This record gives sequence, structure tokens and C-alpha cells, in this order.
Amino acid sequence: MKLSIVNTNDPESLVSAVGAAIPPSGIREFFDIVYSTPDCISLGVGEPDFITPWRVCETGIFAIRDGCTHYTSNRGLLELRELIAARIEKETGVGYDPETEIIVTMGVSQGLDIALRSIVNPGDEVIMFEPCYVSYMANVQLLHGVPVVLPTRLEDGFAIDAARVEQAITPKTKAVLLNYPRNPTGSTIDRPTLERIARIAAERNIIVLADEIYSAIDYLDERFSINSVRGMRERTIYLNGFSKSHAMTGWRLGYVAGPKYLIDVILKIHQYTALCAPSIAQYAAIEGLKKGDGDVKRMRAEYLKRRNFIVSRFREIGLPCHNPEGAFYVFPSVKPAGLSSRDFALGLLKAEKVAVVPGEAFGPSGAGHIRCAYATSMENLTEAMKRIERYCTGLMK
Ligand SMILES: Cc1ncc(COP(=O)(O)O)c(C=O)c1O
Repeated sequence: MKLSIVNTNDPESLVSAVGAAIPPSGIREFFDIVYSTPDCISLGVGEPDFITPWRVCETGIFAIRDGCTHYTSNRGLLELRELIAARIEKETGVGYDPETEIIVTMGVSQGLDIALRSIVNPGDEVIMFEPCYVSYMANVQLLHGVPVVLPTRLEDGFAIDAARVEQAITPKTKAVLLNYPRNPTGSTIDRPTLERIARIAAERNIIVLADEIYSAIDYLDERFSINSVRGMRERTIYLNGFSKSHAMTGWRLGYVAGPKYLIDVILKIHQYTALCAPSIAQYAAIEGLKKGDGDVKRMRAEYLKRRNFIVSRFREIGLPCHNPEGAFYVFPSVKPAGLSSRDFALGLLKAEKVAVVPGEAFGPSGAGHIRCAYATSMENLTEAMKRIERYCTGLMK
């Protein structure tokens, strides 16, 4: 990234070099065009189409009625932290002390920011796999850190190669940032690979950040988390939240769990920059964790039906498509259509009013792909795939 400091009388020259240098999110830029296209079917936005379960909404309403509208403890409500600790232990087999090892955050977004701030010094390198969530590179760059990006390919099922992590490590490597199941590919990381990465992290003394925000939408039965590998609890920052599992994107609620020495530092940054996560959302999330498992399962079952449908439709149309192991995205190749992903997406929007995200928004290795979120009704999906088929038939004649 090129940083330049210009000294003039122009107030615009006062913005920070790093703030000016990071590019705007490729998704947002695209959506400005989508929002101005009426009657468009959107497979673009990465959020559940389901409304937050009513029991959760109602608890939030009661929290407002009862005046639970004040700051909470910086760490978040203890009852919520206790439930989160139980949830993480159930999902990963790893116990965390709710008093000292968990912080409730404003989504995984803020959790990731404060987690990275707790470990990255200027010039430190963070290894990540591409295509990846749009914020990862910027999160590291904003700290004057250096993202070290390892591409993955459809031909390999977007699999992660642990040997490449080892090759990418330098004396400046601070962390590896993993996301499984992954946005935008829906691919996950198998147990042997996580175990190999864990061994490398221990041998080379690096931290692993595990963004498991899609853990509730994992279609494999053998879920495995890197914090559960022997010795990894001490060097893993575990991130998860309510946005995807409980359809609570707008409530802005997530959490960070880790060993006390890291959480102590993360908490200081959280105290000074956020105070606490929204209180109303915290009360509502307590209900979600106590009684919401049925809602989570119901949504997951619906996503699975949609995944099976959309993958088979893309393959019928002739666009190669990985069968994702989780999340609610597919990331098919549009190379057979003979267009760049950006031209494909813009053309599709114009010709058929279907919005998808060009793969480059998730890094250069996403070129030649589009991301389609199947977080929309079967009816919408069926119609969208009909239109995509018509568009592709025209291109692939
Ligand atoms: C991989 C990944 N991490 C983090 C986030 C941010 O989630 P939150 O709403 O919890 O901030 C997203 C949102 O799409 C995501 O896909």
C-alpha cells in the first residue's frame, strides 16, 4: 500500500494516509448500482433473509420497556457471557472462563478489529486465505500491518494448504486469520489441515484468529475447531456472533473468546473504543441462546435445501460450482461465459435484473467468479436461476 503525506493548506490533505489509501469495499460500490435498479432479485447481500426469531425480538422489546437501556459491564452481561461460554464449549469442546476470557462485542467486525489491535504492531504480517471476507485486508492495513494473502482455487475446492502457511511465515508473522466455513466460497477447513496449521503455529509462535461466524450453518456433521487442538487454546482468538446464526445482523452482536493474557489487552482496547456492546441486543441474545436452538436449526435446514438447489442449477447451466460445506454462499466460475466477473455481474443486472457480487470484491483470486448468497426465498432463487440460465445461454451459444 502506498502511503503519502502531502503538506498543503488543503484540509483534504489532513485525512490519514492509511485511511485514504484503503480502497472502498467492492461490495458496497456494487450495491449502489443495485439499489438504483428496481425489481431486482438480489443474491448479493451476505445476510439472512429470515427475520430475527420473534422470541428474541420480544425480549429486546421487554428490555426497552423495563429500562434495560444503560451501559453494561465492558465485557458484556455476565449471564450472556456464561451462556456464550457454554455455547462455545458445546460447539468446540473448549471451556472459557466467562469472567475473564470472553468479551461481548459489536459483531464479529468489532471483535476482529480489537483482536487484531491487541497483537499487530506496525509492519507485522498476518496470513490470510483468498478469496476472503472483504474486511480482512483493510482490518490489518488500518493497523499498519501487512496482509499476506494466499490464494485458493475452485479446482482444489478452495482448500487451504497448510504447507503454504509454513512457507509464508517470516520473522514478522504475527498471526494466521482463518474463516471456516468461509465467506465467499462456503468452503471449510478439514481437521487434518487445522491440526497441521496448529502445529505450525505452535512451532513458529504465532497466533491463530478463528472467525467461526458461520459455524451454525455448517452442513458437515464432523465440525472441528482449531482451539480444540492441544496447546491451541493458549494461542487462539475465537470469534463468533449472532448475525448469521440468529439472523441478527442489525443488532450488532458478537463475541471474542481467548486466553486471559490476550483478553486482558483486548478488553482495554474495547473499553476505550466502544465501552460495551448494545445492551438491548445483549438481553435479546440471552433469549436466543437459551431458547433459540430450534430457530437456528430451522434456518440451517432451509439453507441446506437452497444450497442443493442452487449448486445443481449452476452445474446444469454449465458454470463450474463447488458444493459448499457451509455458510449461505456459492462462488461459481463464470469463465465459460467468456466475460470478466465484473462484466458478467453488470450485464446480468442490466439484462435480467439479478444482482450477484463480482468475485474480485473478495480479492484478486476471486476474479472469474461471482458470489451468490442463497439467503433468499426458494421462489426468488428459482426465478433468479431461470434468469441466470437465460443470460448464460445467450453468452455461451
Ligand atoms: C467472515 C465474516 N466475518 C465477519 C463478518 C461480520 O459479521 P458481524 O455482523 O458479526 O459483524 C462477516 C459478515 O458478513 C463475515 O462474512
